[in-house]
Amino acid sequence: MRFEVVDKRLHEIQADIEIVLVIDKNLDHKWIQDKEALERLGFEGKKEQVAFLPEKGRIYVGTTLEHDEIRIAAAKAIKTLKGKNYKSAKVGVYIQNCPITNIKAFVEGSILGAYEFDRYKSEKKNKNIEEIYIANEEYSNKPFTLENAKKSVQEAIIVAETTNMVRDIVNTPPNEIYPESFAKLAAQTASHEGIEVQILDESDLEKEQMGAFLAVAKASANPPRLVHLSYKPQNPKAKIAIVGKGLTYDSGGLSLKPSDYMVTMKADKSGASAALGIILAAKKLEIPVEIHAILGLAENMVGPNAYKPDDVLKAKNGKTIEVRNTDAEGRLVLADCLCYAQEKVDPDYIIDLATLTGACVVALGEYTSGVMGHSKELKQKMLQAANASGELAGELPFNRYLPKLLESKIADICNISSSRYGGAITAALFLSEFIEEKNKDKWVHLDIAGPAYVEKEWGYNPYGASGAGVRMVVKWLQKEFVFAKKHP
Ligand code: BES
Ligand code: ZN
Ligand code: ZN
Repeated sequence: MRFEVVDKRLHEIQADIEIVLVIDKNLDHKWIQDKEALERLGFEGKKEQVAFLPEKGRIYVGTTLEHDEIRIAAAKAIKTLKGKNYKSAKVGVYIQNCPITNIKAFVEGSILGAYEFDRYKSEKKNKNIEEIYIANEEYSNKPFTLENAKKSVQEAIIVAETTNMVRDIVNTPPNEIYPESFAKLAAQTASHEGIEVQILDESDLEKEQMGAFLAVAKASANPPRLVHLSYKPQNPKAKIAIVGKGLTYDSGGLSLKPSDYMVTMKADKSGASAALGIILAAKKLEIPVEIHAILGLAENMVGPNAYKPDDVLKAKNGKTIEVRNTDAEGRLVLADCLCYAQEKVDPDYIIDLATLTGACVVALGEYTSGVMGHSKELKQKMLQAANASGELAGELPFNRYLPKLLESKIADICNISSSRYGGAITAALFLSEFIEEKNKDKWVHLDIAGPAYVEKEWGYNPYGASGAGVRMVVKWLQKEFVFAKKHP
């Protein structure tokens, strides 16, 4: 899908169809040329309501000027036109307080909404619109510069296309994406962008004394990999480590998952996939920070060599871990990756992304990511960034009592809590044991178990992988290091 900002009025642009966003049910606006027809169809301009008038060459979608509503409306229009014989569309520009937010939102919503994972379909029938022209027409007579609009369109394309690339990786089945093939794919995509790549194999992980990570990977015929990607711009404003859980498959190990719960566990690599997307987007957007993406790639399987409940493992920082459930494997992989990130990068911020717990989905529902950590300020900023990006996120608070639930009688810590409540938080508190004292306030944990993979369409998200975490963290980077302070 291509976008072009054209210095012409809407009526001067030739296109197969015109997309008209109806704002706040206002059918009296001068742009609405088919009021009578719309009323006859019972179209009131309610959110997500669509009226397709092929004989008029227009499609109307109800929305408000709130940026995520614009994304949803754009997706709705694109999806309605999917599979039909329209190659090009045109649309006016909608500006509210911020002159660029809504143009961006329209472009993002179109690209994200057009996505479909049809790689394994023999017949690919659902063609999307190929070209969208954005006119210099403005809904509310606010100032609008062509240059700004073009820049925002470029940014939106980078963020949305990267999110779609992450969706592709997560949706790819585990017989194609396993640690080695993921590492190869990450290396290819990253080096193509001029990002440094280092891949650690089992023997390197031994040397690094990553006993927790190695234990999780032991039963698999597919050996583990740690991928360390570095984007180093000149004069960086900060150094950031992004650590991603990359379980290319999570069968649960010997604490085997029931079969109903095992399906979709190809998506347990969503954290690592998001980390890859974030560093790529940051590079393309030229965000002036040094970023290190650390992907912990492994397969949690059963077999004669599997790690077991009752094993005691030694993590990279020397802490011993009593394994009581082999399905709580993500935290073991992340524990070593977090130690690695702190030792090798000495970062100003550490962000980890993981499909870590089913408990997070129970707590917040399947559309919302959990935000956890010790720094109120960092959590707050991440929540605000999520909101501005269109992702849903909610805080799950630590307290002084919960860490006790992880105590072990025989080792330094257990890999599961002794209580069945608060599992998302206790998992995060486990990770916190592997964050050095000096780094506690630099760290934030994002549990993306809910939104990373949903087996139904929602808003502009498709069936399957959503690319959760990418837009939220990229927005945080922009707000923190690029935008002037007052920008949303
Ligand atoms: N990968 C799962 C978490 C998960 C569950 C992600 C559902 C997405 C959807 C994780 O490794 C896991 O199995 N966690 C266990 C932890 C438990 C054994 C303490 C869980 O959540 O049940
Ligand atoms: Zn698991
Ligand atoms: Zn898992």
